[in-house]
Amino acid sequence: MIPYGRQSISEEDIAAVVRSLRSDFLTCGPEVEAFEKEFAAFVGAKHAVVVCNATAALHLAMRVLGIGPGDRVVTSPITFVASANAAAYVGAIPDFCDIDPATTNLDPEALEAGWQSDTKAVVAVDYAGQPCNMPEIARIARSHGAFVIEDACHGTGGGFQANGQKWKLGGHPWADITTFSFHPVKTLTTGEGGVLLTENDKWAAKARLLRTHGITRNPTEFTGLAEQSLSSNSDLLSPVLAERGPWYYEMQELSYNYRITDLQCALGRSQLQRLPEFIARRQEIASRYNQAFATIDWLQTPALASRRLDPRPSTLDSSFSYQLPDLSLHLYTVQIDFSRLGKTRIEVMHELKEQGIGTQVLYIPVYLQPWYRRTYGYAPGKCTKAEEFYTLALSLPLYPSMSDADVEKVIQSIVKIKRLA
Ligand SMILES: Cc1ncc(COP(=O)(O)O)c(C=O)c1O
Repeated sequence: MIPYGRQSISEEDIAAVVRSLRSDFLTCGPEVEAFEKEFAAFVGAKHAVVVCNATAALHLAMRVLGIGPGDRVVTSPITFVASANAAAYVGAIPDFCDIDPATTNLDPEALEAGWQSDTKAVVAVDYAGQPCNMPEIARIARSHGAFVIEDACHGTGGGFQANGQKWKLGGHPWADITTFSFHPVKTLTTGEGGVLLTENDKWAAKARLLRTHGITRNPTEFTGLAEQSLSSNSDLLSPVLAERGPWYYEMQELSYNYRITDLQCALGRSQLQRLPEFIARRQEIASRYNQAFATIDWLQTPALASRRLDPRPSTLDSSFSYQLPDLSLHLYTVQIDFSRLGKTRIEVMHELKEQGIGTQVLYIPVYLQPWYRRTYGYAPGKCTKAEEFYTLALSLPLYPSMSDADVEKVIQSIVKIKRLA
């Protein structure tokens, strides 16, 4: 079976994990710190805070930016639920803006037209690894005093061009915080894992604090037990209770255990060395698919090739574009005109499965999920373009260890699907 996605683990990756297993550290140790430094350098970010998964990174982004009850956070409906859930975790209202079908990403024009005064952050999701028009999204959000979080979980190592320059996701000035996922189907894996990137020293320090129970052992950050207390009992803190020995730590915020292990970061460091190779192979496969599917009249290839979007002048004077070589692709999602084909999506998936080809449907518009409908009263028709995209979407296999024969098998299986209509 050729799955729609899978990890690529080399002997070097295995050796790196084994070396880590033989070291003194299993959880947070030198591999975590080294992975953070190397990852930040790779994308050109000042700070990288690695955590147990990208959902945790998105949650920390909300906490760090002070998003909470009474705030609205707008994202794309075509994403994994985690992009929106992070806002709900902190008591904010997750809301959704329709996509531009040409890009499958949040449509800046719709974002601007539907802006509500309580919106405090935008979570811009780079669907499939195709970057959002970040300069335009940042212009809109910042003109309203809102933050920009880029959920770049699909695009590790990718980038775009703007202002006549190439930028990497996580290393450009149009996101306040960027997150990546290291789940096995993503471009680089640590098993489970994620990272939060920012240029802001305070936000990075806060994310580190919140990553481990809101606890600090750094004496320069201590506020003291007695001084913290506003109650009249504070003077009951005897010298013995106030003593700060080598055991001493302070919990300054209520938080979680979002740590990642040294084992995982050893794998991450080894995978990072292979990232350019992963990205190149994914581009190669996408390019082959684009070419092979170009003449099928019931199938539309994704918007992966040369794109020049929103050439309107903005206050940042940004012209934004990307081409296939700029992209790190997680998914290859085609749009199929099932009525023209005369078959349902279930039938097509079944037909492909019988030939050993795994496919997936990504994503159900998040606001249609039962919890979202029940909690916020969202209903079908909220984002019509996202709903249309969903009804036509089918993600085909895309991962670096696919052989050329695997790729040709997928192509032949698609090409051979018989039109019944
Ligand atoms: C767009 C997007 N955001 C966030 C996440 C959450 O990542 P993780 O599984 O690492 O928590 C995912 C994972 O599928 C995702 O696809």
